[in-house]
Amino acid sequence: MSVSQPIKTTKIKSPKKLPKDTYKESESTNPEKKEINKLLAKYVDKFGLQETPMVLLESPALATTKELIKVGVSKYKIFIPNHTDSYNLIKTKHPIQNVFPMTFGKFISENITTKHGLVFADYCGTLDGNSQFKPIEDLKEIFKHKRFNEISLLGVTIAKRNANKPNKYVNNDISRLNNIVGQSAYDHGYTAIDLGEGRSYHRGSMYFALYLIEKTD
Ligand SMILES: C[S@@+](CC[C@H](N)C(=O)[O-])C[C@H]1O[C@@H](n2cnc3c(N)ncnc32)[C@H](O)[C@@H]1O
Repeated sequence: MSVSQPIKTTKIKSPKKLPKDTYKESESTNPEKKEINKLLAKYVDKFGLQETPMVLLESPALATTKELIKVGVSKYKIFIPNHTDSYNLIKTKHPIQNVFPMTFGKFISENITTKHGLVFADYCGTLDGNSQFKPIEDLKEIFKHKRFNEISLLGVTIAKRNANKPNKYVNNDISRLNNIVGQSAYDHGYTAIDLGEGRSYHRGSMYFALYLIEKTD
């Protein structure tokens, strides 16, 4: 081959720029949040859900994943959608890189064949969400697409802030959350039982709810 011949190159598509993650990694080491991750793992163990697929919202610390692995959850069963610039780091840290650069809602509606034993919608954001994240729609989609097993767990965290006035608190989002989960479950052949583990954390600004989801039809 003559040296002047042009070398063929394949154009590599540059990845779409992902939006900046607003989640602060230090929140994962908050003792109350650690307790919540341990609690989730305890219930996974109690109901013997270790072998079921699980979808989690995670940060690069993989704090929830680590607690689940401690109770025998297989790393092959943990799926993490993350539509922020944390995606790449999470992907390098996940033991088998089951990480997807998309929103939780997109993952739930596109991954149509999988039923989950644990869904941890760890939003740490407001229930009403924003232009990118739509917790209410996501929660409805999970039930609509029947993404739960006969027995599953659903954990949700929300910020009790008013989405339009961040320095103000809302007073009925916990009740709205319970209503959305309970009604969506009922509409799609499940019951949602509040496990009574709900708690405020992070100086009262966040709320964690945990439900047992049982198939009824
Ligand atoms: C609260 S952190 C997860 C913390 C982790 N579970 C822990 O206990 O330390 C949630 C992560 O998911 C991302 N996230 C929030 N809502 C999301 C959504 N609807 N779809 C995809 N990623 C989302 C956040 O940007 C953040 O990186």
